[in-house]
Amino acid sequence: MERLQKIMAQAGIASRRKCEELIAAGRVKVNGQVITEPGYKADFTRDTIEVDGREIARESHVYYLLNKPAGYITSVTDPQGRKTVLDIMQGIEERIYPVGRLDYDTSGLLLLTNDGELANHIAHPRHEMDKVYEAVVKGMIEEKALQTLRQGVLLEDGMTSPAEALCMNRNKSEGTSVIHLTIHEGRNRQVRRMCEAVGFPVIRLRRLRLAFLTLKGVAEGEYRALTPEEVERLRRV
Ligand code: URA
Repeated sequence: MERLQKIMAQAGIASRRKCEELIAAGRVKVNGQVITEPGYKADFTRDTIEVDGREIARESHVYYLLNKPAGYITSVTDPQGRKTVLDIMQGIEERIYPVGRLDYDTSGLLLLTNDGELANHIAHPRHEMDKVYEAVVKGMIEEKALQTLRQGVLLEDGMTSPAEALCMNRNKSEGTSVIHLTIHEGRNRQVRRMCEAVGFPVIRLRRLRLAFLTLKGVAEGEYRALTPEEVERLRRV
């Protein structure tokens, strides 16, 4: 038994909040009865659920790995009319959505799925999935700043937890450095804020890896389905 709004959200109707509103508005029926009770639980394997008179079907789950280009918003729709990552994912019938977020200007690895449970599992801080970013930063980064990035940086929303930070390249003529930063949290604009806080603002940012998943074989702007083995492995991380 699960809450009605959770079942509806997992079936791709809308976000949980929106589904709560649909329920409150009397637009949802379970086995032919209008349900408006907020905490109502149903069993989707046995109960028939209708929204506005249309029965909802459980979609089969799909999982994609996208190499997001910069210049796309990580969202299903954008009120400002900017291009979203879903504009890249053509010909997919299921109602997929992004797992976590990459900034508009950030490129790299992004998962999309219609499996709410796995999406929550991946995003949950307790599972501490590695996220590896390549950042091109302004300035010649030195060991002291890298050490601070590793130990923790004080941001507006508190100290960051221990990270790995490696300098891959320093380009004297351009006055830039390339670093690889591995973090386990997923705060808003975290990498950009961490680098800024140690005095090396980010010029370009790309996510290279999430847990064991990499961009190998997926060019920017392209995507591929995850294999069943990869999905299983993500569940076990
Ligand atoms: N950290 C950032 O600052 N931006 C991203 O898009 C991802 C992580």
